[in-house]
Amino acid sequence: MSSFSFSVNPHLVLRKTAMERLKYRIRRFQHTLGMAPAGWAGGFGGVKGYLSADTDTSDLGLTGQALADVKRESENYIVKYTKDLEAIPVDQLKHTVQFQILPIVEELINRGLTHNRIADVGCCYVRINKTLIDKHPNVVWDVVDFPDSLHEINAGVLSPNMNLIADYPLDWLKATSTNYDAVLFNRTLAAMPVSEFRRYLRILKTRTSYVVFNEPGKILFLDNDLDIDSIDPACPLRMSIWNTHNYRKVFEEEGYEFVHYDAVRTTHHFSAPQHFVIQGIARPIGSSASI
Ligand SMILES: C[S@@+](CC[C@H](N)C(=O)[O-])C[C@H]1O[C@@H](n2cnc3c(N)ncnc32)[C@H](O)[C@@H]1O
Repeated sequence: MSSFSFSVNPHLVLRKTAMERLKYRIRRFQHTLGMAPAGWAGGFGGVKGYLSADTDTSDLGLTGQALADVKRESENYIVKYTKDLEAIPVDQLKHTVQFQILPIVEELINRGLTHNRIADVGCCYVRINKTLIDKHPNVVWDVVDFPDSLHEINAGVLSPNMNLIADYPLDWLKATSTNYDAVLFNRTLAAMPVSEFRRYLRILKTRTSYVVFNEPGKILFLDNDLDIDSIDPACPLRMSIWNTHNYRKVFEEEGYEFVHYDAVRTTHHFSAPQHFVIQGIARPIGSSASI
């Protein structure tokens, strides 16, 4: 992997090209006639708009039925996800959306770690991460996700420097006292409501040098550019199963500062393109970590 340079985009806007705008208009017109290709019709249907304000400030996290629901969804997801990923030839893995976090993490590793320890929250099937985990055997990874089947599913991709934990990641982080160089959220913050996102940031503030994220910014089915900084942090934009958060504002409100923040085009390996991933590295304000 080549080196990655860090920079903070002062105003994050996901922009459509003129061709993409034109294509959108044609597809939208076809859609009104009931003639849009299936993927586009489904995509237009997935635009849910801005969510109503999430004012939950409790630190408790998911419990009861809410926890059972997320766990069941996660269990269903990992089965489908593993099948999809297994179908991708090894030499194509670098073109997946989830791979796009790895050059950032590798750059952090190359600049020097303190604890030699990384956590991945919502790891799912770790075939992609394994490429980096195996490359740096001195760095220990704690990879954690909900499914009871996590060990069974990941049995073929284990590494000596990887601890696989099947648990609710927030509860698990609360119960351990490990300090990390980086805690990763790879397409995981977008799967959460803001209240849950904030809970992770609060617990991680004294536990990690950096939080690193790589989250979808889908604009294909929107008519215009998307100004991420103008999103009300309490009301993310909902697209199918994904929330587009105002990451800058949420991190800042929770006492973090960015050392990297930008969006890049996705590599479109999957049939439903994400269009952009929003990527960042944040550190708790006042931390001594420097890169
Ligand atoms: C789209 S998958 C991403 C999997 C993997 N990180 C990747 O990029 O390929 C979203 C993951 O987020 C996890 N997740 C959902 N809600 C979560 C929460 N509240 N806390 C932690 N993980 C959560 C799910 O279990 C699921 O594995």
